[in-house]
Amino acid sequence: MKIQKIKLGFEIKTGKEVEIAPSHLIVTGLTQEAGKTTTLESLIKRSKKRAIVFRTKIGEKSFLEGTKIPPYFKDRSDWQFIQGLVEATIKEKLRSWDRSVIIRLSKQTGGNSLLDFKKKVDERLETPKLNNFERDILTNLQAYLEIVLPKLQSINFSSKLELVEGLNIIDLERFSRDPEVQSLVISSVVEEVLNEFKDVIIVIPESWKFLPQKRGNICKLAIEEFIRQGATNNNYVWIDSQDMSNVDKVPLKQISTWILGYQSEKNEVKHTLDQIPLPSKSKPKPEDIMSLGLGIFYLATRERTIKTYVQPFWLDDSRSKKVALGKLKVSELDAPEKLTPFKVAMKQPEKITEKPSIDFQETSKRFQKELTEMRHDFFDKFGEMQEQINKTYVEIYNIKNQPKQEFDEEVFLGKVLQKLPTSSPASVTPVSVDKESIIKDVLSRMPTQVGANVYEVAPLVKITKDFLEEAKNKIISHIEKLDDKQKRMLKWIEQNAKNTKRNEIFLNCFGKSATSGSAYTELAKKVLEMKQLEIIRVDTAQRIFPHLKERITDLIKQYKATDEEIENVYNHVLMEMIK
Ligand SMILES: Nc1ncnc2c1ncn2[C@@H]1O[C@H](COP(=O)(O)OP(=O)(O)OP(=O)(O)O)[C@@H](O)[C@H]1O
Ligand SMILES: [Mg+2]
Repeated sequence: MKIQKIKLGFEIKTGKEVEIAPSHLIVTGLTQEAGKTTTLESLIKRSKKRAIVFRTKIGEKSFLEGTKIPPYFKDRSDWQFIQGLVEATIKEKLRSWDRSVIIRLSKQTGGNSLLDFKKKVDERLETPKLNNFERDILTNLQAYLEIVLPKLQSINFSSKLELVEGLNIIDLERFSRDPEVQSLVISSVVEEVLNEFKDVIIVIPESWKFLPQKRGNICKLAIEEFIRQGATNNNYVWIDSQDMSNVDKVPLKQISTWILGYQSEKNEVKHTLDQIPLPSKSKPKPEDIMSLGLGIFYLATRERTIKTYVQPFWLDDSRSKKVALGKLKVSELDAPEKLTPFKVAMKQPEKITEKPSIDFQETSKRFQKELTEMRHDFFDKFGEMQEQINKTYVEIYNIKNQPKQEFDEEVFLGKVLQKLPTSSPASVTPVSVDKESIIKDVLSRMPTQVGANVYEVAPLVKITKDFLEEAKNKIISHIEKLDDKQKRMLKWIEQNAKNTKRNEIFLNCFGKSATSGSAYTELAKKVLEMKQLEIIRVDTAQRIFPHLKERITDLIKQYKATDEEIENVYNHVLMEMIK
């Protein structure tokens, strides 16, 4: 099959057309003074291939003529990918033991979620028994993932790489401060093209950043692989780089086409020339490079080294040739107002007559497409925000909607009853004991008034209370029936509060005359009556003991009279006697 060559431009002095074979290539040269991007853009257009370029810097003006496609990123956590990430971060090959740790962690994730992998890393770091090397690796990975993951979540990546004809622009401007994220996207795209596409050119910008010499970068592995294997499917890498310092040398060795533009710094020129894997006779000399003008490059391949004027895509053949022949200066191509290349191109009558309407249509189509994409992007963002808000509301709803702590009266009462003191829980069923305690408690709090109490309680309690009333009344009526002498003696006995001989009582209550004779006999009889009423006690030696309180207690205690009630009745009886 005949290789479709790509026109580069015209040879200086001879004006011969210069072509290159499709291959991996590098364009070097000083910013704005060489014309690297113009060269690449022109080559892409003339190759008629699909190409992917990345916009990585804010305000980058190059490659504006393509179609912006959504960034593609394939979320992965398979061990090969993670190993690459680790080796990129620690910049050395993993030892087999640490590699097995990473493989094991990766395998726990299902292979397609960096976020899941991060969780595994977090978990693993919690384990106390980690050797220092593993801890270092995982801590590095954790830190790296903490940087990239939130950013990767923040935009809607396309899960499928869909390329249009011509220039496909992947805009990574918004990650211009996050080269890690840019690297992940670029490496993802590079791998996808390698595995799934044919005839695609990938332009790698700022190679010192994505193919760094001293640091690791996930892109490096992907690009190395792409350079090694891509050519078999006519997939090529084109590198845009000012010079070769700080660029990894390994992939450079595989590159066969070098397009060397103007450089001003001698060491950098030397450095660039040193990297070219060609015999020295095929290489230009440093002073050659340092005397180049805008748009003029040395093409260095295995076969030849040709000083060439690179034809910009916006310039016609004849004028390009004139520039190569020295008949037209590059500076003369610029409009005095420093119009952009597009505007210069539009000024060309040939171009205008060739396809003015098509150009117009294409431009408006492109704008339309961009507008639609922007609109989609805008609405996607809104969609995402809406989703976040919805999620928040769902959470709030869930919290609010949690089942309330139901008030179970039975359980509550049970708990309260358990806390109430019980007199003999072992012998009585807990419930009845509790009831009794409550009743007692309630009664003790009610104001008591002997004789006039009205008890509104449960029937059984009421009956008990009735008996209590009866007993109280009984003893009170006994006391009421005592004559004055008996009452006087009873009072004296009660106040004496200890046992006494009858004579002593009679003497103290009624004087000496009462201690003998009929008065004594009469009083002795009265004492006997009181003894029979059990309001005093008389022992075998005729000693008299106070017994009123005991009697009251005996009578009413059986009806569950409290000590307070007993005291009340006792006082009441004493009052009766004072009357
Ligand atoms: N072959 C050419 N003929 C005429 N003008 C050119 C040519 N190449 C580039 N220019 C002009 O030179 C300027 C810089 O070109 P370009 O953007 O391609 O440079 P660059 O090397 O990519 O710069 P940078 O490193 O900043 O990206 C542009 O205005 C462009 O129109
Ligand atoms: Mg450029």
